[in-house]
Amino acid sequence: MNILVLGSGGREHAITWSLAKSPKCEKLFVAPGNGGTAAIATNVSGFDINDGAAVLGFVRENDIELVVIGPEAPLVAGVADVLREAGVLVFGPDAQGAQLEGSKTYSKQFMVDNDIPTAAYGSFDNKEDALAYVNQIGAPLVVKADGLAAGKGVIVADTLEVAIEAVESCFDGAFGDAGNCVVVEECLTGPECSLLAFVTGGKAFCMATAQDHKRAYDGDLGPNTGGMGVYSPVPIVTDEEYATMVQIMERAAAATAKAPFEHDYRGVLYGGFMLTPEGPKVLEFNARFGDPETQVILPRLHADLVDIMVAVAAGKPEDIQLDWYDSWAVCVVLASEGYPGSYEKGKVILGVDEANAMQGVTVFHAGTAFNLDEEFVTAGGRVLNVVALGDSFEKARDRAYEAVDAINFEGKQFRTDIGKKASIGRSAWE
Ligand code: AMP
Ligand code: GLY
Repeated sequence: MNILVLGSGGREHAITWSLAKSPKCEKLFVAPGNGGTAAIATNVSGFDINDGAAVLGFVRENDIELVVIGPEAPLVAGVADVLREAGVLVFGPDAQGAQLEGSKTYSKQFMVDNDIPTAAYGSFDNKEDALAYVNQIGAPLVVKADGLAAGKGVIVADTLEVAIEAVESCFDGAFGDAGNCVVVEECLTGPECSLLAFVTGGKAFCMATAQDHKRAYDGDLGPNTGGMGVYSPVPIVTDEEYATMVQIMERAAAATAKAPFEHDYRGVLYGGFMLTPEGPKVLEFNARFGDPETQVILPRLHADLVDIMVAVAAGKPEDIQLDWYDSWAVCVVLASEGYPGSYEKGKVILGVDEANAMQGVTVFHAGTAFNLDEEFVTAGGRVLNVVALGDSFEKARDRAYEAVDAINFEGKQFRTDIGKKASIGRSAWE
């Protein structure tokens, strides 16, 4: 089967790597891809991955039988709709389903309509009403730009002043059109945990729990990033919490298939949970695989990803058989100096082959390219995702950091405490 993956991050490298392991995978293309995908597939460029007609043109010219959509932007732009309309198998929800990520107001209404526990909220299309609500509920609270803002449109405000400033900057265009509508919500507390599920035909097939580390520096300090490390599964989650999260994902999946929503949801639904003292509550839904969660989830998948994606894309839940390795996975992100602020590119990366040769280690590329001398160089803020598997949490963590030590580039920046709180236990969050 010829397959096209859309996207260019560590998530897409992990998806491509997992698809490439399947004997069913023939030609594998990634648009636009990165330095890592270039080694296992054919990177292609020259068309806009957010333009359904352009993607369809490439699909027709290259006899592509399955398209896997990695990031949210093409989903929200309706690329899956255009391809499906033309009879192409697509892994990824339609534009309406992608609104679960594309609009926080839509997503919150979906949660309320389906009795999915979430933070109390108000949604506003004008500054005055939003500020009145902020003053009424008081700090701490959370201000969210309604639309897609590359993970930057959420401000957790500890004081009323910060909340007011956040509302004003949203309506003043800090997040572009994404901030024309603003969600203000109650501030929840507890450890965060994500649970991703393959969803098709109204059925959810949950993967393992994972926990991202969004802050830039050790001790959860510094600015929010696209994720500095992750591990899976999450040992502090109780059986009861896990069962509740699975029920929530199943309820959400069933709702996508029914009136009034009636999404054509065939892809991944990502549930971002907070484990509050009253039980797990949904902070957000995403309409795709998480990044970097995918980098610790797919290496634990024993089943053939091509089979799963074809079943999801064809709307055949009866064909899905998930099967996982009984191991732990830890991922440490290596970033460029200065990330998430400005950073330089083009630094030569050494030691990736040595790291990949270590037992249980796989290095996924997030922001890399080849220079004219055919060397790997840095080409983004997040550069590499160093993933290690182990038969205990500690072993996976130790291996990941050994591999981190083997890789070098100028300005290498990483957190030294990925998974530390989990090894301490629940008290680390109190
Ligand atoms: P979101 O993109 O909605 O997941 O928000 C990004 C991050 O903001 C989350 O991972 C949480 O750390 C934080 N956050 C979002 N909503 C809340 C909330 N209601 N209470 C506390 N923290 C939140
Ligand atoms: N890891 C967070 C996300 O993918 O949105």
